[in-house]
Amino acid sequence: MREKIIAGNWKCYKTMDEARTLITEIIAGLEPNLNRTVVLCPPYPYLHLAKELVIGSRVKIGAQNLWKEDWGAYTGEISAPMLASLKVDFVIIGHSERREYFKEDGALLNAKLKKALAWNLRPIFCLGEKLREREEGVTFQVVETQLKEGLEGLSSEDMLKVVIAYEPVWAIGTGRNATPEQAQEVQQFLREKIGEFWGNKVAEQIPILYGGSVKPENIDSLMAMPDLDGALVGGASLKSQDFLRIIHFK
Ligand code: PGA
Repeated sequence: MREKIIAGNWKCYKTMDEARTLITEIIAGLEPNLNRTVVLCPPYPYLHLAKELVIGSRVKIGAQNLWKEDWGAYTGEISAPMLASLKVDFVIIGHSERREYFKEDGALLNAKLKKALAWNLRPIFCLGEKLREREEGVTFQVVETQLKEGLEGLSSEDMLKVVIAYEPVWAIGTGRNATPEQAQEVQQFLREKIGEFWGNKVAEQIPILYGGSVKPENIDSLMAMPDLDGALVGGASLKSQDFLRIIHFK
């Protein structure tokens, strides 16, 4: 049985008081003995608070980004050793919003990934095609290139710490999720490619999440697919009742 992961990406939302309330409500609503990894990725300023609030619970904390160098004159950046010193567990790398608005490319994402692994942070590596690419029929080529560029040079041992998130860009924040079959098709392809590059053991064990308009109404049908091992959730992770329903998918 592969690890199942539900991760909430809060993006650039919530005040500190709202963050405290949301985390507290999520912890209170978790079924005991649930065999799932739950990850909350609040904005940087609340990571320390979040780590304190989840003490004694099974909830893990992730950052939404990191810088590729350890230290230096990089005003405004947050580095892997800083996150490691906060005992952050996960870090999202390569989200489509970072690729689009901050022009992060494959080489930069690869450097960030290696930095995360060097500091024992588990990367959640995001990839996915744009609408135009899907319409042109190049989805598989696009995700294969993103996979190769982003994960280049990682050993099989490194890969066992990585989580992949397939997030078709046209489904993010649009209310238009991929159908379970569309997500399954791409995620099965990704798992096959991972097997080719890093071997069967990695392919069998690596969690591949789906992201893009995941909601309480569609989580169960998405998670029924064999190559969907969880979800990276944006909008619906900002309301405790919705996120709790998603965590407890059937
Ligand atoms: P969404 O975002 O659930 O709001 O579509 C998903 C994501 O960006 O990770």
